[in-house]
Amino acid sequence: MGKLDGKIALITGSSRGIGSAIARQFAREGARVAVHGRDTGALAGVVADIERVGGRAIGVTADVTRFEQIESVRRDIEQQLGPIEILVANAGKNFVPPGPLEETTEDGWRASIEGNLTATFLTIKSVLPGMKARKSGNIITISSAAARRPHPRSPIAYASAKAGIQMMTQHLAAQVGEFGIRVNCISPETILTERNEQQIPDNVQQQLVGTHPIRRLGTPDDVAQTALFLASDDSSWITGIIVDVAGGAVMG
Ligand SMILES: NC(=O)c1ccc[n+]([C@@H]2O[C@H](COP(=O)([O-])OP(=O)(O)OC[C@H]3O[C@@H](n4cnc5c(N)ncnc54)[C@H](OP(=O)(O)O)[C@@H]3O)[C@@H](O)[C@H]2O)c1
Repeated sequence: MGKLDGKIALITGSSRGIGSAIARQFAREGARVAVHGRDTGALAGVVADIERVGGRAIGVTADVTRFEQIESVRRDIEQQLGPIEILVANAGKNFVPPGPLEETTEDGWRASIEGNLTATFLTIKSVLPGMKARKSGNIITISSAAARRPHPRSPIAYASAKAGIQMMTQHLAAQVGEFGIRVNCISPETILTERNEQQIPDNVQQQLVGTHPIRRLGTPDDVAQTALFLASDDSSWITGIIVDVAGGAVMG
């Protein structure tokens, strides 16, 4: 028996990277998953992989900065699978290089807030009314180690957007606990996704390893295992926390 048997889960940004590892993990544990992204080819690949090993998945496409598109995806999932019981609001990215605040462009700042904080807000806004009506639900947000302490490698706009996600998570957890809804946040340090494997040069990866008490970088599965714990009844009395999946590079 799986830890998420029969549950319906939407994982935004699961066409690749961390989100795809979470979708695969949830499906292995018996959830019916909506795999989401914009790249339809990548989406179809993740859905096919899940189905090949006996899981159940559908692919859905939306820009998470557009509320009407998220609403359309939610209705689509409700029709094809049923009401969303677990939401992992994972879609997001960095839009700007690190550097002094005054050199951060206004466009880069706005894109960072829009593509992370506003996207997470809009996704939860779409799914929450159904969860409240059913008096049951589980929401997981994704922040970043960038938002846990100032660091020269962290773009200030991205860090600020992700810090907003942490406060939104805790504020929401306080609002909706009485409706049987838990809300928690995962805050990863550098994770070796396909994209990071390509973009971070080997020598920089080695330097980064040295900054982690556990001497390796994270994997998408490290985050997926944590998401599984938070999504399952194993964590039934935990809400409003921020979990650093960081190899000890961030503590407390
Ligand atoms: N990797 C890390 O080291 C790390 C560390 C800390 C936090 N994080 C956070 O973890 C999350 C996942 O990161 P990742 O590294 O796995 O990223 P990734 O490999 O670049 O994948 C990002 C996913 O999000 C989707 N996405 C992004 N913006 C979207 C939008 N506006 N509308 C719809 N889909 C959108 C992408 O869809 P398409 O590609 O299909 O368009 C893709 O599925 C992000 O929130 C990121 O900030 C990552």
